[in-house]
Amino acid sequence: MTASGSPEKNPAQAGRHNLDPHLDRYAARTSGMTASEIRALFAVASRPEVVSLAGGMPNLAALPLDSLSAQVAEIIAEDGLVALQYGSAHGVPALREQICEIMAMEGISAHPDDVVVTVGSQMGLDMVTRLFCDPGDVVIAEGPSYVGALGSFTAYQANVVHVTMDDDGLVPEALREALTQAERAGKRVKFLYTIPNFHNPAGVTLAVERREEILEICRAHDVLVVEDNPYGLLGFDGQTYPALRSTDPDNVVYLGSFSKTFASGLRVGWVLAPHAVREKLVLAAESATLCPPTFNQMIVSRYLATHDWKGQIKTFRENYRERRDAIISGLEQHMPAGSSWTHPDGGFYVWVTVPEGVDTKAMLPRAVTARVAYASGTGFYADGFGSRQMRLSYCYPTPERIREGVRRLAAVLESEMDLVRTFGTVTPRAVSGPQSPSPDTA
Ligand SMILES: Cc1ncc(COP(=O)(O)O)c(C=O)c1O
Repeated sequence: MTASGSPEKNPAQAGRHNLDPHLDRYAARTSGMTASEIRALFAVASRPEVVSLAGGMPNLAALPLDSLSAQVAEIIAEDGLVALQYGSAHGVPALREQICEIMAMEGISAHPDDVVVTVGSQMGLDMVTRLFCDPGDVVIAEGPSYVGALGSFTAYQANVVHVTMDDDGLVPEALREALTQAERAGKRVKFLYTIPNFHNPAGVTLAVERREEILEICRAHDVLVVEDNPYGLLGFDGQTYPALRSTDPDNVVYLGSFSKTFASGLRVGWVLAPHAVREKLVLAAESATLCPPTFNQMIVSRYLATHDWKGQIKTFRENYRERRDAIISGLEQHMPAGSSWTHPDGGFYVWVTVPEGVDTKAMLPRAVTARVAYASGTGFYADGFGSRQMRLSYCYPTPERIREGVRRLAAVLESEMDLVRTFGTVTPRAVSGPQSPSPDTA
């Protein structure tokens, strides 16, 4: 003991404990929790002179703020004691009915009782993983996959097995193969996590002809499907696709969100569970948050009831399409030979493969110095793959800034390739894993 009565520190540990005195207390499940690379660079990357193609922040500029603020005031004036009170873990009934009408646009016929409102679909992901995954269970996910989902799977100590995609989304044969291999290895696969529409980060959409086959494969292997669909109404031609849930209500858990079609800051999403799962889901939601925020749910509900929300989504779509066109034309004009990219027809993201020898994670600080930021590919894989890939988000900057950002990015790539030509691969292969979600990489 020291003179002050506190235990003496092991000098070997003193340095570590100076960094975080709680290091030895954390649960084992926290070991996979890491911040995204771009978050580490956030202070620099968020300077106005940097064009950020890293973040997935929706562009809210087109929202009708004046009428929204009047309605928010009305909610307080007319219904304030309900709006500011606890509610049920299940969610506000009127909103759950409206959610069913929205899902009907993608062919889903659902009862409001089976809808559980969540604090964004991120909470839905967390709850579904909590309900189904024990440490060591396998979750199948597309490769690459949404960083926030990988973070939840890791937090519950599930093992992620990635299945390859092509321009038509998840490849059924690869899924069959992955399931067979996992079974042979004696692993328990709990669910397939899939983002069928306007994928984050890949930008591709699952072909309609593949959808039934994927459902069939999962049923045959007794594996649940978790369908995450925050971008489904953001097809640039107004096109929608039949939800997986629409034809397989007993084996698909569907996640929805108002983050991309209305306002991400309200944090309102939902889970449509198979009827048998609903009860457990409500209990899990209750233990996580007691209830989703009543006020925010009432704002969303009133907005849906009184605004031309479909017209608003059309405006959002047009804005995003203009930005998609800007990024694709910038890529075509500036990117060096040996690069390739996907062609999204909805959503927020393009997935880019850079020339051989370039490591996107190692290049990121140099790109930020050159005033352009992106999300490097490794964060979208649980297994360290993706060092030749990057995700570019075109949702937020103006089309002019997007074009300028791509021009800067291409110049950084050119100088990186000069180094590769001179020295071979200039950087060690980046090995990374799922990172915690944050607004800057979501
Ligand atoms: C595929 C996917 N799922 C879920 C989320 C989380 O969205 P929410 O804001 O509803 O929590 C995101 C956010 O970017 C996403 O891209």
